[in-house]
Amino acid sequence: MRLRRSERESRRALLRFIASSPLAYGLGAGLLPRGAEAQLDELLEALIESPEQALNVFDFQEYVKVHMPTGHYWYMAQGADDQRMLTVNREGFTKIQLRARRLIDTSNVDTSVELFGQRYDSPVFIAPCGALATFHPEGELAVARAAGTANTLQILSTVTNNSVEDVTEARGAPLWYQLYPTSDWTFTRAMIKRAEDAGCTALALTVDIPARNLEPIARFRRDSNEECQACHQPGFEAAFSTKAMFADADLSNLGMGIRGLTWDYVDRLKDATSMNVLVKGIVTGEDAGLCLEHGADGIIVSNHGSRAEDSGRSSIECLPEVLDAVDGRVPVVVDSGFRRGTDVFKALALGASGICIGKPYIWGLGAFGQPGVERVLAILNRELRIVMQQMGTVDIASITASSIQA
Ligand code: FNR
Repeated sequence: MRLRRSERESRRALLRFIASSPLAYGLGAGLLPRGAEAQLDELLEALIESPEQALNVFDFQEYVKVHMPTGHYWYMAQGADDQRMLTVNREGFTKIQLRARRLIDTSNVDTSVELFGQRYDSPVFIAPCGALATFHPEGELAVARAAGTANTLQILSTVTNNSVEDVTEARGAPLWYQLYPTSDWTFTRAMIKRAEDAGCTALALTVDIPARNLEPIARFRRDSNEECQACHQPGFEAAFSTKAMFADADLSNLGMGIRGLTWDYVDRLKDATSMNVLVKGIVTGEDAGLCLEHGADGIIVSNHGSRAEDSGRSSIECLPEVLDAVDGRVPVVVDSGFRRGTDVFKALALGASGICIGKPYIWGLGAFGQPGVERVLAILNRELRIVMQQMGTVDIASITASSIQA
């Protein structure tokens, strides 16, 4: 929003709006500090007005900071404990340097990758994030269409607002399905079968949040107003009644959670489905070894986008020990904190088969719907192509350990 409309007269309304936004909420109790008005002018002048204006993915983040409802923003943006992992995940990338090679013909760069027999135009995938209708009415469907435009992989969350059948149709190609187990194996097994029947080629069991401490959203809920409470009734039933995969469930008897799970659950999943089974949320070589012992077909290294434990270890720093333990036997995908083409390049150079983004595509979705997600993916793919050209790497296979200094 650039202040060229009859902006001065709308300033008061704007400030009221801003005062209730995440930006001001983060500053404390919705109060604007002294001098904030001038800073807001600067901020608003820098905001994009359309997806095309975005130069990098952070442009979308700035937009949603101002425009997204405060509670929705914090549900999306929060990290564990004191938010440190958000920074830790980003700083991990700075510990790896690039080793550029010169005078290699990179006029044609190929960013495509193949996983489980499916070819994608890009190694930048869509991570499973729950309840995307929170950010845009078309939710997972808008994301699926954008993933289709980019011909990339979409992993659909168990707590999707749209059904696996509808999202698959919108994507126009098979998805992967992310699993949060329920307390009822019969129901869980039926949900897995449903994903399989919809054509999903892989099932990703998320194991990284047996417990979690997310203060911003808890603080917001504590302070939340009647407007929020009109949509958000307390309790499990209210929360899951809007989730497509639970439409026919007897919610009064169902629970969720992975606290009681042990490694035999991976065996159980392997027996229950013909889909490839991946474990999402692995951060150590020991657990990577156990994944293989229990027949996992792949691993997703992740700290849940900074929402799991405040470990002080970035996801990219956890990747090498997982790759060492796996030793090329199954694909390893990584997520948490990826925001630049160089981040993607570094993960590929370490040996990852692909990377996922979570928050960046939600920023695009929340700001502009499908075109916003399309632009986020296009920006990251453009940046990846640029760094590949700078590094003298013509395709993903030519990105190797010699491309980096870690
Ligand atoms: C998530 N994530 C997630 N993971 C999962 O396995 N199932 C889920 O339903 C969700 N839901 C979810 C909601 C929101 C709002 C966020 C931000 C994240 C984690 C997600 O799959 C992924 O691991 C991270 O988002 C990747 O990190 P970045 O890109 O967000 O930093």
